[in-house]
Amino acid sequence: MMQNATEPDPGLPGTPKKAVLSRRALLAALFLGLVCGMGTISVLAGARDGTRSGSRSNLAASNAAALEILRTNCFGCHNEEKHKGGLDFSTRERLMKGGESGEPISLTKPDSSLLLKVLAREADPHMPPNKQLEAGDIRALRAWVRQGAAWAEGAMSGDLVPLRPVLLTSLPPGYHPVLAMALSDDGKKLVAGRGNRVILYDVTTTNVVAREGGQAHEDAVQSVAFSPDGKTVASGAFRKLVLWGAGETLVKRTEVSAGFSDRLTALTFTSDGARLLAAEGTTGLRGRIRVLDVASGALLQTWDAHNDVIFDLSLSQDDRVLATASADKLVKIWDFTKRRETGRIEGHSAAVYGVSLNPEGTQMVSAGGDKQLRIWDVKTREKVIGLGDPKAGVVAARWVRMTNMIFAATEGGNVLSYVDYKPHSGEQSSSSGTERSIGKASEGLQCMAVSKDGEVVCAGGQDGCIQVWKRDGKLIAKLFELEAN
Ligand code: HEC
Repeated sequence: MMQNATEPDPGLPGTPKKAVLSRRALLAALFLGLVCGMGTISVLAGARDGTRSGSRSNLAASNAAALEILRTNCFGCHNEEKHKGGLDFSTRERLMKGGESGEPISLTKPDSSLLLKVLAREADPHMPPNKQLEAGDIRALRAWVRQGAAWAEGAMSGDLVPLRPVLLTSLPPGYHPVLAMALSDDGKKLVAGRGNRVILYDVTTTNVVAREGGQAHEDAVQSVAFSPDGKTVASGAFRKLVLWGAGETLVKRTEVSAGFSDRLTALTFTSDGARLLAAEGTTGLRGRIRVLDVASGALLQTWDAHNDVIFDLSLSQDDRVLATASADKLVKIWDFTKRRETGRIEGHSAAVYGVSLNPEGTQMVSAGGDKQLRIWDVKTREKVIGLGDPKAGVVAARWVRMTNMIFAATEGGNVLSYVDYKPHSGEQSSSSGTERSIGKASEGLQCMAVSKDGEVVCAGGQDGCIQVWKRDGKLIAKLFELEAN
């Protein structure tokens, strides 16, 4: 009998927490400096008072400000998926339809609207449940209701808000965490984000050479990817995506920043290399997928996929199946052509950091902060098996298509490989597959890259060290910071 995807997680409570920062905590800490000013509507604060002047543009601005208050304070619980109290704010129509208590907004008696009443300090129920909105925000919402609760396309996706410029504080000196890396398909070139730099390495010899590609990001690089032909590298960070030509060195080709409001946490190219999928996310709020045209850098498609940051993307070889792993503990499966969710896996009890489809796109492996590494059937969404016993949060997983091997890396610094994972039939054993250690890095490992043939394995982490191994575990290189700090 196969185990159900939603079974409770064994062995999680009670285990001592390691003194390592989870990937999520690290990301949060890194961005604390800039997150403070975001998500607020201070850009529009001036415009809000402008309603009195009655000018059309001021009215539009004050409406946008009100919608932004709803988006940042309410939408997280009142959306298509969650609709607490039966209330869904995703479109004006749905909002006006109301929830369990009927219409939340009365256009004839605006001041007695339920949506406004629940904001009062002593209201029961009180919204948002654990927070008191500021008086100015309540005034803005009241004005919006009185003026007819106007809506605008994109109101709940954050597209209305003019981006607030943020002053990026530089990373602490000497702190150059490696948060992202990728290998070219031929296994000859490694690209890694190290602090705010993107660096290209030649890994064909034991004398691994760094070929730096200049600096294009102001803050820590969150994601990198190689195009299938190895000629293009994409790197993502806060509100910015950079496409590089990857020859002997990295040469900056295109910079895309329009349209991004937050961090780009995962990247992957389509199999023909013509399109790039970028995951853009805001902690605790949403993870959306952006599809870009690689040649022009134009944004082709956008859709909201998760309610939290997306840490990994995996596209099947025929580009039909997309799997996404998120901090919201879910793995979702998508029909990429139709941008439609076809299934989800709720079997992790913590953030899911890695997901990787098998060559046929029929099974996938997922890795989580709950110390679980699991294989799932894409169609039935049932767990096929749990792999090994990683003993620490698993930060990355790769199903290497040519050899059918699975590789994984843990927060504790272990880089592991698995073969002989057979689906269980009959008795329920909690783990399987032959686990081998490829190498050991220090605690706080953040990312891993594996070549297409599984011959080269790289990992990097908080300490800024990058290690390169052969599949048999032979260490080829250990690269620390290039320059003195
Ligand atoms: C953390 C989750 C959460 C957030 C954030 C939140 N709500 Fe709610 N909301 C709920 C829950 C849960 C209920 C149902 C409460 C009950 O019935 O006692 C609810 C109910 C309501 C209702 C009553 C619906 C009905 O028909 O009974 C209104 C109106 C409402 N919320 C408005 C808001 C507004 C406006 C905001 C933002 C300022 C907001 N909520 C933010 C969780 C949330």
